[in-house]
Amino acid sequence: MLQIQHLSKLFKLDKKEFYALLDVNLNIFQGEILGLVGASGSGKTTLAKILLNLMRPTAGSIIYDHEPIANIPRKKMQMVFQNPHNSLNPKMTVYELISEPMIVHSLCKPEQISARVIELIEMTGLSQTLVHNYTDQLSGGQKQRVAIARTLAAEPEFIIFDEAVSALDASVQAQIVNLLKSLQKRFNLTYLFISHDLAVVKYMTDRVAVMQAGRVVELAPTEEIFSEPKHPYTKELLESLRPAERVQQLSFIPSNFAIDDQNRDKGCPFCDHCPRSEPICWEIKPELKECGTAHFAACHKN
Ligand SMILES: Nc1ncnc2c1ncn2[C@@H]1O[C@H](COP(=O)(O)OP(=O)(O)OP(=O)(O)O)[C@@H](O)[C@H]1O
Ligand SMILES: [Mg+2]
Repeated sequence: MLQIQHLSKLFKLDKKEFYALLDVNLNIFQGEILGLVGASGSGKTTLAKILLNLMRPTAGSIIYDHEPIANIPRKKMQMVFQNPHNSLNPKMTVYELISEPMIVHSLCKPEQISARVIELIEMTGLSQTLVHNYTDQLSGGQKQRVAIARTLAAEPEFIIFDEAVSALDASVQAQIVNLLKSLQKRFNLTYLFISHDLAVVKYMTDRVAVMQAGRVVELAPTEEIFSEPKHPYTKELLESLRPAERVQQLSFIPSNFAIDDQNRDKGCPFCDHCPRSEPICWEIKPELKECGTAHFAACHKN
């Protein structure tokens, strides 16, 4: 459905330039849930913004259903953010928030709008009694359900969730995760699911792409990423989960790691930190290559 080819994004901060994305190649298949994980600053949100045409890449191309994304109607691709407090206008009621996309994209006749709002409210597990409330009268979980109903109102094919369940407490998070899974099946949607929470990623996704310093270093079916990780960075990520088997912020890589190491002229950006590095790792930058069925890793040691 989506072909991401040689995608790079260069940012300038003060006088320093760095690549937030560097030669990212990734296909997303229709009807799948692809997880995207990686340390803070590895480029996940930057990739999401470029996919949704909210930001222009420095190089590379994105093809959606055989067409450049610039030609794709905006409504087909939607995004749900981490913080529904910021993404929902507090001056609008639940009804106005959910009906707005139908009006903007001319998806319903005026007389059909109210029935469709009620349908979406029920679909997302909200109570009809909230329909005329403002969002500051709702809980975090209810707000995120409104954000999901509003997203579905645009009748998208592809939805990016950027830490969409991270701000919720565990029981509400589980409800929303199950809601997203059932909506995906019911409407045969395609998701890109960005999360720091590896337990949720394991439960939710079909495949996982691991990002590190602007590059995809490993891509494989979810079961294999967790049972047979090939890239040392992925192994380190999984280790960080193991002790408590719960949510952890991935902060074990120095925060300036991405920028400094990635600008190295040659060799693997990870070799300073890698327990397995050998002379070749300092000389030649590893490309993402197949190392098992549908399993890719950017590491010389596979
Ligand atoms: N508009 C911008 N201008 C300059 N630098 C930016 C801009 N947006 C992001 N960056 C930088 O690009 C890098 C990647 O940022 P991005 O937000 O994509 O990371 P992320 O993987 O989503 O992190 P997190 O997990 O914390 O959300 C970071 O170093 C960030 O500071
Ligand atoms: Mg982000």
